[in-house]
Amino acid sequence: MPEGESLSELKFDSIENLDPTPEERDNVDMEILERRYPKKVQLGEKTITIRPLESKDEEVLLEFFQRIPKEDRILLKDDVLDARTISDWCKSLEYETILPLLAWDGKRVVGDATLHRERGWMCHVARIRAVVDPEMRRRGIARVLIGEFLEMARDLNIAVMDAEIMAEQQAGLKMFEALDFVAVATLPQHALDLLGTPHDVIVLSRQILTTAEAGVDRDTKIEESEPRRR
Ligand SMILES: CC(C)(COP(=O)(O)OP(=O)(O)OC[C@H]1O[C@@H](n2cnc3c(N)ncnc32)[C@H](O)[C@@H]1OP(=O)(O)O)[C@@H](O)C(=O)NCCC(=O)NCCS
Repeated sequence: MPEGESLSELKFDSIENLDPTPEERDNVDMEILERRYPKKVQLGEKTITIRPLESKDEEVLLEFFQRIPKEDRILLKDDVLDARTISDWCKSLEYETILPLLAWDGKRVVGDATLHRERGWMCHVARIRAVVDPEMRRRGIARVLIGEFLEMARDLNIAVMDAEIMAEQQAGLKMFEALDFVAVATLPQHALDLLGTPHDVIVLSRQILTTAEAGVDRDTKIEESEPRRR
């Protein structure tokens, strides 16, 4: 974050400009995704392909989650071994709300990162989650997937990226810090893992658009803008 800037100083001329209707958001997002993907990335000796999750990926995505060790899985937000959960994700794809990006090593999924868009007063905020195949960790896969979201943020009108992780997810904590996310809050006992054990949740945040980059008139008063549509 540039010196002198803070999250609390972000102001926008009109929330309406940043909070399009679902149809407007859908059109814009699809154009961006079709332009970018599939994309090949060289990581060491491996060529990894990045593209959004598609409905046909159900089986291979479930196989990916079956390779995630139990100690990681129980700390994930959803029960990823439940075939119905994966099926629901694949059948109800709405990239404008949740954008899942997969990393492929040939026909195998080796990484999954999702961008969860907020609505209304937090329409400029998105939350990131990421999981990588244990055999493929520390090769830069999460860095690449999250880097995709960071690169697209400006086009998607995302000003702030957040991540919520349990205090025990040390690799995730280190990874987000390595990507310039800053821990901004700890929510005590806010998460129950899949075994029912409570954990503190750490909120990490990274500002993407500075007021200068967003071309924002810092003197504009929010009350003067048009009311939001939803
Ligand atoms: C967190 C996770 C997604 C990282 O994936 P990854 O592909 O191994 O991460 P990368 O290789 O891109 O690492 C990027 C940087 O993050 C940091 N990092 C990642 N894993 C780390 C670890 N275990 N220990 C210390 N630093 C780590 C490093 O700075 C790394 O850069 P470097 O390798 O050049 O030093 C992976 O460990 C995972 O799936 N964990 C289980 C799920 C989880 O906890 N997800 C996070 C919550 S949403």
